[in-house]
Amino acid sequence: MQSLERELSEKSVWPVERLVQYLQSDHQRFLEEELPRLHSLANAVKRKSLIQFLDSMRTELQGHFKTEENIVFPVLISMENQDPGPLEPALLYACRHMKSDHRMHEKHLKTLAAFQNEMDEDRDNPVVLPLVNALEDFGRRMLLHLTIENRFLFKPYLPDTNS
Ligand SMILES: [Fe+2]
Ligand SMILES: [Fe+2]
Repeated sequence: MQSLERELSEKSVWPVERLVQYLQSDHQRFLEEELPRLHSLANAVKRKSLIQFLDSMRTELQGHFKTEENIVFPVLISMENQDPGPLEPALLYACRHMKSDHRMHEKHLKTLAAFQNEMDEDRDNPVVLPLVNALEDFGRRMLLHLTIENRFLFKPYLPDTNS
């Protein structure tokens, strides 16, 4: 996906503080704009299973974002360009934990893509099309978001992994 790589390379030079600011406003946008919008679009097409899935995803993301914002990001900012010293084990644990959440989120995105594919043949339906497009956009933005965190924030503390 070329645009994903382009957006990633643009952000690869950002300092941690700027990345964190960007990521936090992304969190807000996911929870306050995109998920509610997906929810109401799914409601309009009466997709009960998708609505339930979006609800559980929202609960999971709320907890994950809160941990990042309250614990992980502040520590990463304070660590920038410094040796973590005695904090290293805790930081390693936190980064591993967030990264394993991301693996689960990637699976969730695959499930959303399956919902999207299922509805793709009804694209001509004016109620379905905005939902298909919104799912596509959400999946792309979430993937960019978690890849930025994995690569630019967590990876320096997880030298044994390669993504
Ligand atoms: Fe995040
Ligand atoms: Fe995350």
